[in-house]
Amino acid sequence: MIRTKKVFRVGFLVAAMLAVGVAASAQTADQAWLRDAGHRGPNDIPIFAKAFGSGTLEKSAENEFYREIEKLRSKSVGDSFGSINGRVILGTAKEVQPAFPELSFPNDLKPDEYWLLWSKHNGHPFLFILGGDERGVLYGTFAVLRTLAEGKDVHFSGLRSHPAMPIRWVDEWDNPDGSIERGYAGRSIFFEGGNVRDDLAPVGAYARLLASIGINGVNVNNVNADAHLLDSEHLKQLARVADVMRPWGVRLAVSVKITSPQEIGGLATFDPLDPAVRAWWTAKTNEIYALIPDFAGFTVKADSEGQPGPATYGRTPADAANLLASALAPHGGIVLYRAFVYNHHLDWRDPKADRARAAYDIFYPLDGLFAANVIVQIKEGPIDFQAREPVSPIFAGLQKTNAAMELEVTQEYTGQQRHLVYLAPMWKQVLDFDLRANSQSTPVKEIIEGKSFHRPLGGMVAVAGVGRDAWLGSPLALANLYAFGRLAWNPDLTPEEIAAEWTRQSLSNDPEVVQTVVKMLMQSWPAYESYTGPLGLQTLTDITGSHYGPNIESSERNGWGMWHRADHDGVGMDRSVATGTGYAGQYPPEVAKLYENAATTPDELLLFFHHVPYTYKLHSGKTVIQSLYDSHYEGAEQAASFARAWAKLEGKIDQPLYEQVRDRLRYQAGHAIVWRDAIVQYFLKLSGIPDEKGRADHYPGRLEAEDAKLTGYKIIDVNPWEDASGGRAVSCDEPLIAPDKKPYCKAEWTWQGGQGQYDIFVQYFDLQPGKAKFGLETNGALRLGPIGLWWTADAELPTDRPHGDNSTRHLIRGVWLSLGDVIGIRGIPDGNDHAALDYIEVFPATYNRELMVDHPCSEGQQVKDPVSHQDTFEETVGPELAGWAGETNVGTPVEGMLVELFHPGDKTPIATTRTNEEGGFRFSGLAPGRYRVKASGVVEYGADELVRLDPAAKAQLCLVVE
Ligand code: GCU
Repeated sequence: MIRTKKVFRVGFLVAAMLAVGVAASAQTADQAWLRDAGHRGPNDIPIFAKAFGSGTLEKSAENEFYREIEKLRSKSVGDSFGSINGRVILGTAKEVQPAFPELSFPNDLKPDEYWLLWSKHNGHPFLFILGGDERGVLYGTFAVLRTLAEGKDVHFSGLRSHPAMPIRWVDEWDNPDGSIERGYAGRSIFFEGGNVRDDLAPVGAYARLLASIGINGVNVNNVNADAHLLDSEHLKQLARVADVMRPWGVRLAVSVKITSPQEIGGLATFDPLDPAVRAWWTAKTNEIYALIPDFAGFTVKADSEGQPGPATYGRTPADAANLLASALAPHGGIVLYRAFVYNHHLDWRDPKADRARAAYDIFYPLDGLFAANVIVQIKEGPIDFQAREPVSPIFAGLQKTNAAMELEVTQEYTGQQRHLVYLAPMWKQVLDFDLRANSQSTPVKEIIEGKSFHRPLGGMVAVAGVGRDAWLGSPLALANLYAFGRLAWNPDLTPEEIAAEWTRQSLSNDPEVVQTVVKMLMQSWPAYESYTGPLGLQTLTDITGSHYGPNIESSERNGWGMWHRADHDGVGMDRSVATGTGYAGQYPPEVAKLYENAATTPDELLLFFHHVPYTYKLHSGKTVIQSLYDSHYEGAEQAASFARAWAKLEGKIDQPLYEQVRDRLRYQAGHAIVWRDAIVQYFLKLSGIPDEKGRADHYPGRLEAEDAKLTGYKIIDVNPWEDASGGRAVSCDEPLIAPDKKPYCKAEWTWQGGQGQYDIFVQYFDLQPGKAKFGLETNGALRLGPIGLWWTADAELPTDRPHGDNSTRHLIRGVWLSLGDVIGIRGIPDGNDHAALDYIEVFPATYNRELMVDHPCSEGQQVKDPVSHQDTFEETVGPELAGWAGETNVGTPVEGMLVELFHPGDKTPIATTRTNEEGGFRFSGLAPGRYRVKASGVVEYGADELVRLDPAAKAQLCLVVE
């Protein structure tokens, strides 16, 4: 039984894949979109390329092209491949023009710009890839290769493209010790043990990946900077990093600590206006340029979250920025001074206090005071990378200052790469948002392009968080890095087209794959927002800790200022000018007016701007509270739908990648339920208003651990309470010792339902450090067989005490139960992991081929390997036979399945029906006897799409797979 083995293996993989860092195999750019999964070759493109310039970037372009030819060659047959007499011509327009006097090339190409032409020369095909400079040649080459990988036509007739903005950087928040702040993909590719790594091959691969989407700068270290990176020894090491990235046109930048002159320079002060401090920075900068002539510049976080800054001496951010700028200016370097400056000791009792105001309050008065080579780097929203925020108003406030937008590719507040969240739609909303500065059209993209206020510099910076675990850990998360680069090049691209481009290159050109994945990606951010923090509540997560699971009150009653001010009557933060903090008034008048009143504020931002009663009616027509309930159920359901959609792609994409993503999506479906239940039960309790749809606090099939008969397990209060069902769980704190000397605890429930086959979800807390084990027992005996015997809680989830960060689930399918049976979960603690349990949920079984090995139904029935997506049951039934088709995790009904009823042995059905809207089917008026039921049709078998039978129908159906 191949299938049986497979199921067993699945259980294993779920746990294994979450162990961050396990997959730290050799890291290449070909793991990402450069893998050319969708390649369609052969093509008639020339098979020789010639770079006209002698620089390293053009050499990279030429190599890149030959790499492509090799790929095409390996896929094509015999000699029919390519054009031997044609050429790919690479170079700047200036370099190439003299050799082709008969052709006229544009002579006004700008830096980074490229121009592509397919033409005949002496009767042979020539592909010209011309750049405004060397970088342009490289970008043009990657554009051609992308087009090929997408299976599209490369017969360009003078395609010209240039980046919308000069600054297209990624920031890595890597620490010299090799850890990464807010990184979710293993350890640093740059540093380890206090130094730059010896092996920088992954850095070169990364630079190649970045160049392929037009990114031209990498800041390699944490904005919470370690001053020692600027000492002479480390600078030499950093020069090696710059060397490795240079062939890809990617320049090195570093984050600097403003206290450096004092901390490593031995000065008594770091006052930006002190001449000795100025001299120190000048000398240090000169030292850097002697080692790294194309050094890009400094990024600065100061007076922020404990980082010291110019405020120590009563100086301004402009004083500090200009100090560094003057040291960099002679070399052409720039300063990216972050507008993320705020007081994290705000008085939460003060209704006027508001962290969202900080950037504008601090930077607006400084507009016009910054040096020409300073760019103020502004997070897209006024708070901190939440699932939803309004656009930061300071974009409109700085009209005499260069501005760049900062966003996060690393999914700090958006699921940490364990959840699928494609962020391009969110960024796109920000880029397109028209701030109406000076009552004119000023979309954010045009501000950072420098167009709106005629600024020479500007751009986009993404906190990338790549690590040694396949760049971003999760294969689908790479769509975010890709999208960032593409949007920085051209913010007019749509998130859908970027998603399609990425999918074709990374997964497959198959239209079904492209369509399915693009749809999943596009739905993923709205889904995540729905089950984490809708209506502008921000991500309702643990804001003082992991930023991962639900923890609603962690944002209240402290100085961090991420308040949502929920109380018994209402929720939301009043940021109006009239009655609130006045934040709404920081926008230009037309936008300010929109946000000033609840009635004109869009639903998705209502609670960011206004405190309203739970019964307040939204534009959608729902009350706030009902909308909160609904959105959490809908969001969790959508998360589950991703796993189902993905399951249909099995066989169409690379299998290991398929499995990795499948396991993550299954985990996400379960964690979305944790989120859903936490927020719904919290607001139900706080508001006292029931869910119109009766779902809140009613969990069909759920058996709480605290209601079980407990042996060794102790009831614990979970903190925050909403992270556990009913606020409590059990923890194996006083284990018994089994005969094999292993400590264990047990939770047991007596089954009160009907006889039949059931699926059991076990919701438990997977803690660090330690690998607890769990097992399922029925009537005191551990279940044997390939399923459900033991599983290990070895996922690496954040935090070390039971709560929403590490609440996860395990599914055991097809358990046979009769009234009065005892269901037991046995937990074996390990280290800090006390095998804590929240609840189990028992549902009528998704019938399941694999389980039949373990539990043959009755004599004479056999399981054979399945031959199709059809499934058959046979059993003795009464006058009624009913069943239900649905999806395991969420119980979503499947409508329209064909259900056929047969006399055993017959090929022609005696009755047929289709499942109704609720997924149900029923045959009535049957003479007692044996029947065979076959369900087939719309359900394509994937991970979570199975049929289950209604125990109320009293027909105990057994499966025979034909
Ligand atoms: C977030 C993040 C911090 C980071 C900070 C920043 O608050 O959680 O880890 O240092 O942003 O942008 O500086």
